[in-house]
Amino acid sequence: MIYLDNAATSWPKPPSVKEAVAEAFEYAANPGRGAHQLAMKSAREVFKVREKIKDLINAESTKNIAFTKNCTEGLNIAMFGSLQAGDHVITSVYEHNSILRPLHVLEERGVELDILDCPIDDIPESILRAIKPNTRMVAISHVDNLVGRVKDIKKIGNSLSRDILFLVDAAQSIGHMPIDVEEARIDLLAAPGHKALMGPMGTGFLYVRDDTSVLPFMVGGTGSRSQSLVHPDFAPDKYEAGTENLHGIVGLGAGIDWINEVGIENIEAHVKDLAQTFYKLVKEMPEVIIYGIESEDQITSIISLNIKDRDSAEVAMALDREGEVAVRSQMHCAPLSHKHFHTLDQGMVRFSFGYFNTMDEVHEAAKILKKVIENN
Ligand code: ALA
Repeated sequence: MIYLDNAATSWPKPPSVKEAVAEAFEYAANPGRGAHQLAMKSAREVFKVREKIKDLINAESTKNIAFTKNCTEGLNIAMFGSLQAGDHVITSVYEHNSILRPLHVLEERGVELDILDCPIDDIPESILRAIKPNTRMVAISHVDNLVGRVKDIKKIGNSLSRDILFLVDAAQSIGHMPIDVEEARIDLLAAPGHKALMGPMGTGFLYVRDDTSVLPFMVGGTGSRSQSLVHPDFAPDKYEAGTENLHGIVGLGAGIDWINEVGIENIEAHVKDLAQTFYKLVKEMPEVIIYGIESEDQITSIISLNIKDRDSAEVAMALDREGEVAVRSQMHCAPLSHKHFHTLDQGMVRFSFGYFNTMDEVHEAAKILKKVIENN
């Protein structure tokens, strides 16, 4: 199989991730809920991973890092925990439903919403033009999941006044490119563990710069202040009600270790090289329509396309049948972005590359795409 669906989840995972998860079965007790040695070891293992994430994104403290079950949960905590009726939020059409759906609910509760529909490169300036006295948050993805274009988060973060929360969805960038929450002046950053961070599904985290401005989304047992009916008001405990996914978290920690060993710059360069080569090969095919990319330097890890007006699901099935090329097709949970690119009915065929892909696979996938075009 040629697996080119890394934007949905990375595959395969480094062997060390599997080993760390398996090893956790040997010691996993409830972290933070006991004084016996297994519970203490489990708590230490969770803390170590919190430290790894802190270092990865240059956060100030491990207290800024809350574990979540995925990126969506982090985004929900960030938005539901900090917005109220009368607040104004700026986002863009290029966002995933994990940003758009919570904002839709919040809009029904009185939050004011501006959804920018402008060229991706104009987003930083368009955000500045949309700011109003009641603007409370800017919520955008670093790299969007449909056409894979990077937004200049450093420029955006540094142009916002400190009373506006800057929320970044790092689902398609973390692990593929460096992120520095200080440099980009990010207040809130949500990320999944199972994509380029190479961890298992069911993992993720939310970075919260100032926990006093964000309420928890869920309350319950935390192992701390257990004598009280009042949920802890300090991070990260306030965002982590219920038993942690210890097995997943240590797997995520092994994924981050792997990234540090390979080097994030090497990962970024390799994945870009693969995606850019694929772009060069397929843009020569007259039947292919590529979305969102006008030049090679705009490419991160995703190329989304269609073959004329052919249904994207049919093309994806043909790619699988002809050469076991695994891609995502149809809708990609980004309805406004599909609308922008006029693909709400047709969908898109998305090729998304990861570190374990090879240049041979890129050439083979392009060859199989050509075959699918010719066999129509
Ligand atoms: N959000 C993931 C994707 O874009 C699942 O495929």
